[in-house]
Amino acid sequence: MTAQHQTARNQDGVSEAQIAVHWREEDYYPPTAKFIAQANAGDPDILERFSERHFPDCFKEYADLLSWDSYWHTTLDTSDPPFWKWFVGGRLNACYNCVDRHLRTSRNKAAFIWVPEPEAEDTQAITYQELYRRVNEFAALLRDFCGLKAGDRVTFHLPMVPELPVSMLACARLGVIHSEVFGGFSGAACGGRVADSGSHVLVTMDGYYRNGELVDHKVKADEAAATARELGHEVDKVLVWRRHHGQYASQTPMVDGRDFFVDELLPGYRGAVVEPVSMPAEAPLFLMYTSGTTGRPKGCQHSTGGYLAYVTGTSKYYQDIHPEDTYWCAADIGWITGHSYIVYGPLALGATSVMYEGTPTYPDAGRVWRIAERLGVNIFHTAPTTIRMLRKLGPEEPSKYDYRLKHMTTVGEPIEPEVWRWYYDVAGKGEAAIVDTWWQTETGGFLGSTLPALQPMKPGSCGPGVLGVYPVIYDEDGNVVEAGSERAGNICIRNPWPGIFQTIWGQPERFVEIYYEKYCRDRQSKDWHDWPYFAGDGAVQAADGYFRILGRVDDVINVAGHRLGTKELESASLTVEEIAEAAAVPVMDEVRGRAVEMYVALKPGLQPGKELENKVSEAIVREIGKIARPQHVWIVADMPKTRSGKIMRRVIAGISNFTDIGDVSTLANPDIVDHIKHHVQSEKLAHGEVPRELTPEEAAEVKAFGSAD
Ligand code: WTA
Repeated sequence: MTAQHQTARNQDGVSEAQIAVHWREEDYYPPTAKFIAQANAGDPDILERFSERHFPDCFKEYADLLSWDSYWHTTLDTSDPPFWKWFVGGRLNACYNCVDRHLRTSRNKAAFIWVPEPEAEDTQAITYQELYRRVNEFAALLRDFCGLKAGDRVTFHLPMVPELPVSMLACARLGVIHSEVFGGFSGAACGGRVADSGSHVLVTMDGYYRNGELVDHKVKADEAAATARELGHEVDKVLVWRRHHGQYASQTPMVDGRDFFVDELLPGYRGAVVEPVSMPAEAPLFLMYTSGTTGRPKGCQHSTGGYLAYVTGTSKYYQDIHPEDTYWCAADIGWITGHSYIVYGPLALGATSVMYEGTPTYPDAGRVWRIAERLGVNIFHTAPTTIRMLRKLGPEEPSKYDYRLKHMTTVGEPIEPEVWRWYYDVAGKGEAAIVDTWWQTETGGFLGSTLPALQPMKPGSCGPGVLGVYPVIYDEDGNVVEAGSERAGNICIRNPWPGIFQTIWGQPERFVEIYYEKYCRDRQSKDWHDWPYFAGDGAVQAADGYFRILGRVDDVINVAGHRLGTKELESASLTVEEIAEAAAVPVMDEVRGRAVEMYVALKPGLQPGKELENKVSEAIVREIGKIARPQHVWIVADMPKTRSGKIMRRVIAGISNFTDIGDVSTLANPDIVDHIKHHVQSEKLAHGEVPRELTPEEAAEVKAFGSAD
């Protein structure tokens, strides 16, 4: 057993992952006959076509949804594991597949219906024809004004505006690799990603609407460029789209020779047509940064052919998108969900998508349902955190609006069965088929889900592996944890699939180490069977084969469906001069799933105070973004530590969550625990933060937190 495995074991020598998990078996919900009759995947024959017997050739079915410039000769090349290559020999252009090829039949169909946050502003329908024009003109600008060519990287820091997909598709047209950073992230976080990807062009916007306010966004571009410079990297050009053409919404000056308004440059490219660059299937399409076990975010590199085929196939069968549907994925394009299931998958299918700029509950809890009613949305896709918020703020709102959904999706974190039932009964009016899709930034598309017409729903479980994806649960020693055993373990995928990321940008060793080393049976083997993909999530499989995902096994805190690395939060806290040590832990939160609490210790001789707590919060918001703002910052005299000096995060996580903190007698400083406990818990109770009883899974999560140390 490796040292890593040993530390994951608790006092009794039982691995956290082996802890028995008990939950009430939920009832099945069958889809309606009406849904089944119209579904893209309505014939059970599809399950046989994608069974392991037909792997990897089954994925030809997905590849054939695309238009190839030259057809591929090898479905899956495993000669350099785990750097799998899909559809080798094929050439295609992603932008051509998402835009040009629809012009012949559907040029006047809306590709996007964009809904600005202010209700007084008009909705904009952007047809495939208009999208084609806008993408071509911006591609010409990127090529001729910025000098970009295939293989270069460009970073975007854009909000939910049509200019974001336009920018993405313009890059894809040129073979330029885009890297979109979620608009809510800070300038500093963006700058780190600019430098890591080696982007010399940053595309941003002056401002956008969020919760009724026109926020200044361009200011973050200046911070990003400054951070990149500190890291030894120069941003040559900042392209600034303007939320209102001709009006500048930011307070920060434009930097001469570096910053340019896109709306001023574009007239120079009016009518330009840029030939789509035919790219090898294996060419990278984009990078998407995500948090992991260590401080440095990982740039997940996704391919052109495999990725596009995978998101197109899963959009067709799991999102059940038909050309006449009005599809609304309410995620942000700044996350992988938006890349795969707002932009690439739906557009490759020629869908009509709703895109919304702002907060789902602005100006009131009926907004989402008003949009659904007005635009005739019939497929709706969102995350548990939004569902919880809509349920909390407007439990009766859906019944007030005349919309009908045939299909709904939940994604990003486990959904509580109670919340699931509200989504089904109230939001979906008891008619919509729900898919609970489990997957990751790294995986490009869905991994676990029910096929909506063929497999019944079960609240709280994502379902079995998706078509052509064969998951397995292993214990710490690599033994299979059998379905129905009621034991949790590490969920892995036994086989490669076309949507899997190709590598971590610039860090191929970490790619192998983080995702494949743990369960690799033979490093020399060229057989994919020896290289299971380690997802980093705990899971249980019921006797019916459905998986229930329990959450991350590493030190990642999932806030409102977004992965925040504990190390990132801690290093942000340490940018405050007075802070000597910091530890981040998750607390259960009714709306966001998990929230962050920070524990910090000060440098010697300093006094605690509200001001310092605020400084830590501000530092986290500055370095990472508002989404990461801690619920509490606790200044403590010392952290509970092991004899080797490691901070015991599970102990403070237990304190924050009012759970049993277990045996602390092996700590170097056991006395500190009572002291911290008293301080934190009495203050919480004084604030009226009454602890609720955690479910066994939640308690197990708290207990396991930090075990990767
Ligand atoms: C969690 C988001 C339970 C999981 C697409 C995963 C989920 C992490 C689900 C990836 C789900 C995602 N049920 N947990 N349906 N979907 N997760 O990279 O812990 O932002 O590892 O990708 O979110 O988050 P990421």
